[in-house]
Amino acid sequence: MIADPVLVDDWHAVARTSDVNEAQVVPVRLLGEDLVLWRLDGKAMCWRDLCPHRGTRLSLGGVEKGCLVCPYHGWAYDSSGACARVPSRPNSKPPSQVRAEAYRITEFYGLIWVSLGNPKQEVPRFAEWEDPTFRHVLGGPYPIAASGPRVIENFLDISHLPFVHEGILGERERSEVMDYEVETAPDGITARDICTWTPDPDGSGEARIAKWLYRALRPLTAYIELSDPDSDRERYAMFFTVTPVGETESIGWMWNSMNYNHDISDEELLSYVDEIVLQDIPIIESQRPELLPIDLRLEAHAKSDATSIAYRRWLKELGVVTGVTSP
Ligand code: FES
Ligand SMILES: [Fe+2]
Repeated sequence: MIADPVLVDDWHAVARTSDVNEAQVVPVRLLGEDLVLWRLDGKAMCWRDLCPHRGTRLSLGGVEKGCLVCPYHGWAYDSSGACARVPSRPNSKPPSQVRAEAYRITEFYGLIWVSLGNPKQEVPRFAEWEDPTFRHVLGGPYPIAASGPRVIENFLDISHLPFVHEGILGERERSEVMDYEVETAPDGITARDICTWTPDPDGSGEARIAKWLYRALRPLTAYIELSDPDSDRERYAMFFTVTPVGETESIGWMWNSMNYNHDISDEELLSYVDEIVLQDIPIIESQRPELLPIDLRLEAHAKSDATSIAYRRWLKELGVVTGVTSP
């Protein structure tokens, strides 16, 4: 496991709730650790993907008679992680010290979240999820060969929109970013009331001035809200979280939630979102150093980078060490 107390003690989305069912044992990787997800009587479990007998991957096995059964010698582990059966010794009680190693798991927003340590806070809040006037479309999983902080910083980056997403989220001729304020609090970063000319801010194809609100909620979870500068009635919220698979290996998950634009189908909205994310990925994967430089002297900055500057400072303050250069 990658040694990063901040990320180890945080929650990370690792799969969709619908990916894990009693017929489907799912291997995932988080912070360099191989994990197996499985489900019994509706309850999801996350264990180290390793049988304590001979180190085989439990995810190659399956669920039988209320246990996750290793494919190698059939040792069976019940939902508490205890070894319940050793088939080669059917008449002996399995040794009580033999246990699968379990991690904390919870489910929110249709995603399975895992913590490898002792989380100090809840899964980041996504208020629109509870609002019945919003519909939600999940973009991803998007595998990205880059560090989690590089991926989140791209999501928070304003001045790339007219270049990487030209014709959708901006135009080169109108690429100026007006001054804006960024607030940093212990629970995250907020940059609000940033207005830009946006050719197609929501997949409807209608150009307008869009007002952007950016938030970093956790080191690897961020949020954007797009609205109209004159009215906050129509809102498009994006909740973006990144699985730190390894130091330079990430998976992005992005909820797109809108309280308007309902005549556009989920499929159309998803292809709009996919197009944008797929424009970002080669840019992010090309960035060097691969680890995000949190020492601000290591890269050049413009005033319009205020959000990403605040994000780098905040990661440094929090003590995140994974995916960033050493302070
Ligand atoms: S390695 Fe799993 S049962 Fe032997
Ligand atoms: Fe982008």
